[in-house]
Amino acid sequence: MTAVNGVDFVAHFGEMLFIVGPSGSGKTTLLSMVSGILRPNAGTVSVNGDDIWTLTNDQLADFRLNRIGFVFQDYHLFPRLTSAENVAIPLILKHLDWNESIVAAKKYLEIVGLKDRSEILPVKLSGGEQQRVAIARAIVSGPQILILDEPTASLDGDTGKMIIAFVKEKVLNKDRCIVIVTHDARINEYADRIIHMEDGRITGLDKGTE
Ligand SMILES: Nc1ncnc2c1ncn2[C@@H]1O[C@H](COP(=O)(O)OP(=O)(O)OP(=O)(O)O)[C@@H](O)[C@H]1O
Ligand SMILES: [Mg+2]
Repeated sequence: MTAVNGVDFVAHFGEMLFIVGPSGSGKTTLLSMVSGILRPNAGTVSVNGDDIWTLTNDQLADFRLNRIGFVFQDYHLFPRLTSAENVAIPLILKHLDWNESIVAAKKYLEIVGLKDRSEILPVKLSGGEQQRVAIARAIVSGPQILILDEPTASLDGDTGKMIIAFVKEKVLNKDRCIVIVTHDARINEYADRIIHMEDGRITGLDKGTE
């Protein structure tokens, strides 16, 4: 089936872009293609003018590790690693010292409100806590492009807003961009622009906040 068709958009550095649309409209598929996870059948994905889908597999792996932070809709935490170890993974893959990576991971867990959960395995965390671990893991290495797929779906309104406000204030800067897929109208106020998707296509674009 065709999940995404003829989609054309630009995400600018310095902005927080929201993509909204009904379930099954192709949002996760689109995010997977722009972040170097799923190869599109046609079209290009340019980052700073370079088409990422012309890279070799090794270059793509480097791109994902060094440029992208991704919060998956279903978290994808490693079940046998503690929260701190999960968050430390991107740093360890970048060959940082293990202990330093764990210290940095714990700092980010504190930032997302999970200071006392760092030694816990994912199975013992609530859905919202797992989501926050996933967010900490996505931002720990300071990626240029941060992609969040339904980051607040399991969070209560206040926690969700707090985390998105934090990401906007502390992670976003003029050299970074954040793309968020969400159904959660409670966080729309943080969007710089909102793209609407339906049936794999873009159906509208809002400037500013709703
Ligand atoms: N690996 C796959 N194989 C076949 N069909 C798929 C696959 N992944 C997604 N699809 C289909 O593509 C369409 C878009 O799926 P996608 O997960 O991108 O939607 P979504 O907008 O993220 O939905 P949701 O809001 O429920 O997360 C759906 O109809 C889905 O069933
Ligand atoms: Mg999805």
